[in-house]
Amino acid sequence: MNDVVNNSRGGAATIQAAGVAIKDLRKSYGSNEVLKGISLDVAPGEVVCLIGPSGSGKSTLLRCVNLLEQPNEGTIHVGGFEATDPDVDIDKMRRKVGMVFQQFNLFPHLDAKRNCSIAQTKVLKRSQAEADKVSMHNLERVGLGHLADRFPDQLSGGQQQRVAIARALSMDPELMLFDEPTSALDPETVGDVLSVMRNLAKEGMTMLVVTHEMGFAREVADRVVFMDGGVVVEEGVAEQVISSPTQPRTKEFLRRVLDPTHIDIEE
Ligand SMILES: Nc1ncnc2c1ncn2[C@@H]1O[C@H](COP(=O)(O)OP(=O)(O)OP(=O)(O)O)[C@@H](O)[C@H]1O
Ligand SMILES: [Mg+2]
Repeated sequence: MNDVVNNSRGGAATIQAAGVAIKDLRKSYGSNEVLKGISLDVAPGEVVCLIGPSGSGKSTLLRCVNLLEQPNEGTIHVGGFEATDPDVDIDKMRRKVGMVFQQFNLFPHLDAKRNCSIAQTKVLKRSQAEADKVSMHNLERVGLGHLADRFPDQLSGGQQQRVAIARALSMDPELMLFDEPTSALDPETVGDVLSVMRNLAKEGMTMLVVTHEMGFAREVADRVVFMDGGVVVEEGVAEQVISSPTQPRTKEFLRRVLDPTHIDIEE
């Protein structure tokens, strides 16, 4: 499933992109079945946005893909690996997958460059000089080369999230998972993070993105998948799912997300 991508967005790309194939995935916490038979494919170089209400299982699905959660049933293939094979080399498989969380999870005691280099030296056994070079390349890629010696508390939320993206990219992933990467940010910094993600998509990275940013999904995603209650309710071309959804649950969700004056009062 690995492929050097030559996609419609960016022409010949240098990224080695992996695909994902998820089949009949089930995950329970105790008696609470959170994923109820999810099947979802992401082709190499494709961008898929995952949308859906709180508690629908989006984060759990993402966490299953790199085995931060252990699925109960079903199969997941990432690149050449079957993640769900009990004998899979988890460390090797995880190296293909970069993950960016809502909370940036940077190491507070390390500067931006060191945040990017530490896993390279420890996990990939790169020399410090080589790791620094890769880190600087990726910090420049996210527009932060000039702030490489800043510590996380000296950076804005959006800058910290861009460091988190640079850190993930420094491990040469073939697939990037994003879990609401802009949800914790001040509105004025959201655009910079989305623009980094947009560029990554253009370069041909395979991306699975949980987001409430419908503008981004419409513009950047090849496909949008709407989840509710642990199942995929609707999926299709981004523009079609967002602008003319067919399922009542998708329509209701989008009405809430797209209407900023809607007040959601939970009982
Ligand atoms: N570690 C856990 N232990 C027990 N239950 C969990 C755990 N993680 C998630 N859940 C439950 O699984 C369900 C799905 O959670 P998940 O975080 O995947 O939803 P989500 O779609 O990402 O929601 P949100 O939009 O709020 O982030 C929820 O009911 C949640 O309470
Ligand atoms: Mg979540």
